[in-house]
Amino acid sequence: MARTKSLNDTKNDLNAKTRGAMVALLDARLLDAIDLYLQAKQAHWNVKGTQFIALHELFDQVAEVADGATDLIAERSVQLGGQPTGAAAAVAKGSALKPYPLLAADGRAHVEALANALAQLGKRVRAAIDEADKGGDKDTADLFTGISRDIDKHLWFVEAHNVK
Ligand SMILES: [Fe+2]
Repeated sequence: MARTKSLNDTKNDLNAKTRGAMVALLDARLLDAIDLYLQAKQAHWNVKGTQFIALHELFDQVAEVADGATDLIAERSVQLGGQPTGAAAAVAKGSALKPYPLLAADGRAHVEALANALAQLGKRVRAAIDEADKGGDKDTADLFTGISRDIDKHLWFVEAHNVK
């Protein structure tokens, strides 16, 4: 996503080029993570079927993980001089996740949809680890690494319900 805002000043010793690249990277993944939060809540509210309570609670755990990730990502952006936006219009325009199937009802459909969302974010966060590392910001790479582990763990939790 093109970056048009200028960086805010900071005494952080990372150079401006690195900070600018990291802010753009963080701001883009922020939109994806907010979308995952919203998709997990959609699943949490609407799931029905014999596995209701297990999935209802698990989907809320996914929402919590996504919510925690949004805070870490947005605050790292601010630390580097960014001014992240998490407004709904920006998420709708900028999220790389596929739209959630709003008519999903039974557990299997929600498991499939949320597993897809987790996998998409997992892939993009994994790419962000490498991008941050190559860009010279080990802390942002580490932040994305922690988030990646959490996303993978919850992808496992969700996929474990998908017994063939
Ligand atoms: Fe709830």
